[in-house]
Amino acid sequence: MGNFSKTFSSSLGKKLIMSLTGLFICLFLVVHLIGNLQLFKDDSGQAFNSYAYFMTHFTPIKVISYINYAIILGHAIYALILTISNRKARPIGYAVYNGSANSPWNSRNMGILGTIILIFLIIHMKDFLWEYHNNTSLPYARYEASLADPQNVKVTPLAVTDKEYSHVDYVDPQSQTHITVAKDLYKLVRDSFKIWWYVALYVVSMVAIGFHLIHGFRSAFQTVGWDHKKLVPIIRFLGVWIFGIIIPAAFAAIPLYFFFCK
Ligand code: HEM
Repeated sequence: MGNFSKTFSSSLGKKLIMSLTGLFICLFLVVHLIGNLQLFKDDSGQAFNSYAYFMTHFTPIKVISYINYAIILGHAIYALILTISNRKARPIGYAVYNGSANSPWNSRNMGILGTIILIFLIIHMKDFLWEYHNNTSLPYARYEASLADPQNVKVTPLAVTDKEYSHVDYVDPQSQTHITVAKDLYKLVRDSFKIWWYVALYVVSMVAIGFHLIHGFRSAFQTVGWDHKKLVPIIRFLGVWIFGIIIPAAFAAIPLYFFFCK
């Protein structure tokens, strides 16, 4: 076995992979949240539907998406491998293992939290991403927004299938209107978040993500060795406040907003 493969099959190597893939997923979460904030715009989904089209059809982003899927899968697979090898090394488990019994609850249950997140992700990608690409009965909508008054958007639902419409996004110089014809992913999101148990599933999953990241973010920096004394307070702040609380709370606000306000 070469040095490279030796490093990545050792326990530390596996933790290094978990850390680097985890930090990449944190970056994805920031980008995904910024994009999803367009769901809060009061434009019946014009901006969000255009954004979703761009994200799923622009080739460089599509390539990054596939890399992202591989990284998420790698993170989950290595978590499983690491958990199994840790169990083998310590078959008596945590209950009688004093060193870990004092550590916070979330750091001892990263596997359970990760499993909840993985189940959430499978449901999430099936219901939104898969449906967006493969449900041919997903309707389109036509938007006309005046450039002088962009808040004033006229929406016409187009109850037709994939095969009859294609994406349109341009400014008509004569009427000074921004015209968009887009697959109405916004409607799918809004309708899904009208179901109370679906909203609950999202909120619970965001709590799991918060706890997972409060431990995971800091731990990743320690494993990679980027935990210089001066950096520790910043890493702790980012891990607890930004990734553990604000980002999951902002994600959770989306289903709650649609359930209560739309
Ligand atoms: C609760 C608020 C959320 C909403 C409303 C939402 C919405 C969406 C939508 C509409 C899509 C499909 C279109 C697109 O790529 O933009 C999507 C894709 C995706 N979402 Fe979310 N999302 C949420 C939270 C999350 C969270 C917390 C995660 C990760 C733990 C996540 C992971 C993903 C992934 C991996 C994809 C596929 C992205 C790609 O194809 O590049 N989402 N999300």
